[in-house]
Amino acid sequence: MYSTILVSDVLRSKGHGYLGMPPDATAYAALEVMAEHDVGALLVMEEGGKLVGVFSERDYARKVILQGKSSRSTTVGELMSAPAISVTPEMDLKACMVLMTNNHVRHLPVLDHGDVIGIVSIGDVVGWMIRSQEATISQLENYISGDDYPARVAAR
Ligand SMILES: NC(=O)c1ccc[n+]([C@@H]2O[C@H](COP(=O)([O-])OP(=O)(O)OC[C@H]3O[C@@H](n4cnc5c(N)ncnc54)[C@H](O)[C@@H]3O)[C@@H](O)[C@H]2O)c1
Repeated sequence: MYSTILVSDVLRSKGHGYLGMPPDATAYAALEVMAEHDVGALLVMEEGGKLVGVFSERDYARKVILQGKSSRSTTVGELMSAPAISVTPEMDLKACMVLMTNNHVRHLPVLDHGDVIGIVSIGDVVGWMIRSQEATISQLENYISGDDYPARVAAR
């Protein structure tokens, strides 16, 4: 009954866009972009589109104030988590959850033959898993009770 959901399914729905910053951008500039777009992470990309890491709220929280650094003079390249833990479009969301849990990351860049084609977050993955489970439960209810189950319930 469980239908496999792939990273490509998520990207098809949410879009292939991604927000990134060069490694020499300041943490402050990155935080401004994150606040403006209401996202919790940015992909760190070198000129030419090479992914070199991920800069997240977690990186900022742990590596700036606590280490006596300033967000205006510290670069994203100094703070980013690298190398990036990434996935491919063919990967199953269950495998993404395992990667996120094992590596303590909430954002996974999506690479297709080495090229960045998007990003999936923990909210994307959990949202899709919940919707999939709800659909499975609904199918099972119909299977157990017959297709007219909702009509019979309404008639009670
Ligand atoms: N309703 C939904 O389908 C849905 C999906 C994702 C997140 N959320 C909610 O948003 C909140 C925070 O979500 P989160 O912890 O997953 O992280 P988040 O705030 O970083 O992500 C929010 C959305 O922005 C996207 N995003 C994040 N970084 C991006 C980037 N650099 N470039 C392009 N897109 C980017 C994510 O893929 C996700 O769709 C949670 O409350 C979560 O429940 C809801």
